Amino acid sequence: MANPHELIEKNVGLLTVLILIAISFGAMVQITPLMFQQDTMEPVKGLKPYTALQLEGRDIYIREGCSGCHSQMIRPFRAETERYGHYSVAGESVWEHPFLWGSKRTGPDLARVGGRYSDEWHRVHLINPRDVVPESNMPGYPWLAENVLTGELTAKKMKTFQTFGVPYTDEDVAGAKAAVEGKTEMEALIAYLQSLGTYLQ
Ligand code: HEC
Repeated sequence: MANPHELIEKNVGLLTVLILIAISFGAMVQITPLMFQQDTMEPVKGLKPYTALQLEGRDIYIREGCSGCHSQMIRPFRAETERYGHYSVAGESVWEHPFLWGSKRTGPDLARVGGRYSDEWHRVHLINPRDVVPESNMPGYPWLAENVLTGELTAKKMKTFQTFGVPYTDEDVAGAKAAVEGKTEMEALIAYLQSLGTYLQ
């Protein structure tokens, strides 16, 4: 009888099936434990869902393509933690749908930018970055200061997040429109930025 190794090598169909089994086993070994590991499933201590205004700010961040130049994922390397603070952990992102980790860094990582600057600094910076950072090549977003939010969809968005398991209370949903209506997009975006990464230092 031919040795089994030769049998596999000469039979492409069998070889393909066995390769697929080997690869999926490898993937399972990596992925399955994460699904049961507490610290990848549990929110970090004190984590709160975004307020209505922060949630709207996050949508503006997505709409304006800020992720095209900014990641929100601090890697566990000394060069990164010294610059940005504690590396990002999964428990900070459990209620992020979709997550905005990214990998493109034309600008600095923003995972822990919350509290680093004043609201006023952000306002000036977002209107024209060169007013505070002369060498900046970030575009200005002056329209954010003019566009006013209606809050029409905020409650609906929160309800959608509830179905993903984000712990919004019915009170949060009921008060959503009032919390947002009349605020500018700039205020919402700054509220969002100031909330980023403040649970771990
Ligand atoms: C074309 C690339 C680009 C885009 C798009 C961009 N940025 Fe930036 N951003 C930069 C660069 C470069 C810097 C560093 C210079 C500076 O501070 O302006 C920066 C800096 C920042 C900082 C200061 C970070 C720190 O730690 O000093 C914040 C906050 C920021 N950007 C927010 C935003 C937001 C919000 C948006 C979307 C509305 C955005 N950026 C879009 C390139 C970009």
